[in-house]
Amino acid sequence: MSRSAHPAGPRHADVLPEGHYTAPPADLNTLDPKVWSRTVERDEQGIATVAGLRVTDLAEEFGTPAYFLDESDFRARCRAWAEAFGADADVFYAGKAFLSRAVVRWLHEEGLNLDVCSGGELSTALSAGMPAERIAFHGNNKSEDEIRRAVEAGVGRIVLDSFQEIVRVAHIAQSLGRRQRVQIRVTVGVEAHTHEFIATAHEDQKFGIALAGGQAAEAVRRALKLDGLELIGIHSHIGSQIFDMAGFEVSARRVVQLLAEVRDEHGVELPEIDLGGGLGIAYTSEDDPREPHEIAKALGEIVTRECEAAGLRTPRISVEPGRAIVGPTAFTLYRVGTIKPLDGLRTYVSVDGGMSDNIRTALYDAEYSVALVSRTSDAEPVLSRVVGKHCESGDIIVRDAFLPADLAPGDLLAVPATGAYCRSMASNYNHALRPPVVAVRDGEARVIVRRETEEDLLRLDVG
Ligand SMILES: Cc1ncc(COP(=O)(O)O)c(C=O)c1O
Repeated sequence: MSRSAHPAGPRHADVLPEGHYTAPPADLNTLDPKVWSRTVERDEQGIATVAGLRVTDLAEEFGTPAYFLDESDFRARCRAWAEAFGADADVFYAGKAFLSRAVVRWLHEEGLNLDVCSGGELSTALSAGMPAERIAFHGNNKSEDEIRRAVEAGVGRIVLDSFQEIVRVAHIAQSLGRRQRVQIRVTVGVEAHTHEFIATAHEDQKFGIALAGGQAAEAVRRALKLDGLELIGIHSHIGSQIFDMAGFEVSARRVVQLLAEVRDEHGVELPEIDLGGGLGIAYTSEDDPREPHEIAKALGEIVTRECEAAGLRTPRISVEPGRAIVGPTAFTLYRVGTIKPLDGLRTYVSVDGGMSDNIRTALYDAEYSVALVSRTSDAEPVLSRVVGKHCESGDIIVRDAFLPADLAPGDLLAVPATGAYCRSMASNYNHALRPPVVAVRDGEARVIVRRETEEDLLRLDVG
């Protein structure tokens, strides 16, 4: 592709429009280790490398756009979570963040459990050898077929999400001559996102059974009566991209209160509680996520304290991090196609992907960082918006970022922290071909999910 510098766009703080940004960073070439996977750095020529591989070579071999997943970082994060929670607790990786057979094998080898929430995720997990007893099956509307397959496979737990499902799972388990281990997902009245949590106006959502009004207590009453079910505990998941432990504190307190009520009414101490996932990661340098050991310590202390106060034995705790494990371990590599400086506004940089490979910006107003990775540049920072090639003006990947003024078509940009909820939420909008996921480790790269082809699209189109 030809390289030509684009004409001047807005550059100085006094002419910048409103947006989600602070001042331009002192050095656009620095790859902040907070947001990039652990083996990313620049080589002596200024080209970014991951696991010792230059992004320019990776782009040549695998094309763009593509996700590059740092396997050693992924495994290190799995180990950090497993070690932080120790033998008395269980870590379930939330497969919805990103799942493939290679990932299932890594999880298995690193000793993690797996949370799945569809028949597709279940079959991926089983086909890659995850032992069924280490799988938790989630979802607010599991089909009878999905439930039957999960029970037949012998999954370690099904998380019940409604009164109908209590009966459905019990019935299916009984018809198969099984007693299925289950948890009940409750809505604790806390909704947490990023730095905030809301402890009111929360039951108005589709997941779980409300603690309020005694609904969860009634669900426990019903589940305990059914022969097909072995009720092992209570589950609560309060939100996503959470940095503040206050929401978990309220959630744990309310779940423990329910355990105490169950003990008082039924003489049963449920042995487990699951506090869900939702732990935040750094998408930009402004984010300050907690380390797994801090999270484990905080959750352990909260649950122990609440149980002591209620006179209960401390139950076995489990958690379900998805984003916090896979999110930081991948970046998406794009090639710049066109550049449009809009006077007094910002410069639009179009790349060869978009909302089909990262819907989070359009869906959640998510913030990302971006860097020029095929070279360094000392040119002036320009307020830019990185957009895709789809037929939507909301097709934005990075809303506000500073990129060098000499950015040109053909340059490679990388967006870090795209391991979670990007490939797993990818679509074929505009008949885009979903990008491959390439695992990199110790100087080697291998495709773990291949790029879609036009033949793949046409194969589904049977009209
Ligand atoms: C029940 C449950 N557990 C775990 C997760 C994983 O959340 P995260 O990837 O933010 O850790 C989710 C996400 O939606 C969830 O619904």
